Amino acid sequence: MHVAIIMDGNGRWATRRGLPRTAGHVEGAKAVRTTVEAAARAGIQTLTLYAFSAANWERPRGEVDGLMFLFRRYLFAETRRCMDESIRLNVIGRRDRLDEKLLRAIEHSEQLTADGKRMHLRIAVDYSAQSSILEAARRSRRIPDVTAQDFRQLLDEADHSAQQTPDVDLLIRTGGEQRLSDFLLWECAYAELYFTERTWPDFQAADLAAALAEFRRRERRFGRLPGPTPAAAEDRPRSTREWLH
Ligand code: FPP
Repeated sequence: MHVAIIMDGNGRWATRRGLPRTAGHVEGAKAVRTTVEAAARAGIQTLTLYAFSAANWERPRGEVDGLMFLFRRYLFAETRRCMDESIRLNVIGRRDRLDEKLLRAIEHSEQLTADGKRMHLRIAVDYSAQSSILEAARRSRRIPDVTAQDFRQLLDEADHSAQQTPDVDLLIRTGGEQRLSDFLLWECAYAELYFTERTWPDFQAADLAAALAEFRRRERRFGRLPGPTPAAAEDRPRSTREWLH
């Protein structure tokens, strides 16, 4: 099972308390730790967290620097724990605009956790689904008769993701907005969407459990009819013509 989360509402969480937005991101980083632990305990195989979109570079310099600092601190603090818990950590997104120190921290964490089997944790930094799809499309020109499966692999390559990441089963967005914000657009083709008003710093293990419980109640059809496929006799091609008369 692949769960992806758009962690929204850090700024509002802080503003409501009369705090600077960066304080919301600091609390948000704590919620990341709690959620990663809860997801591993729940048996989720892949967890992708949207930490910084390509569009987030447009935010004030102080906020961007604060976020980059938090990512690096998270990698330093959590790599050991990921190794202990057999969690493979991977940062997806563009790397060419990241600071040298953050890049080194990412590579270090990825190397040290590469053998993790229990859960694949992907943190999206400088990520844009449209850019990834464009990059995969450019790479696909070298493959004649490219298939959806080939394309999916090219997408993972473009994102610096480990190979063969499954498509998203459940997409959670906190903070009350109901949009995808350029996150995993290809991978979410058949994802179930779950929106909650809860701001990200307030997101707890119980909120993840509630989202998973709701997911289990959903009927996933992938474009098919509910229940068993109708017998050929009931599905005669002329029935449409009969209806038209
Ligand atoms: C969106 O909330 C959140 C972000 C742009 C940053 C997400 C970062 C974290 C959760 C903390 C650090 C992450 C890691 C992986 C250590 P917003 O600021 O847009 O909130 P708003 O909509 O209320 O303004």
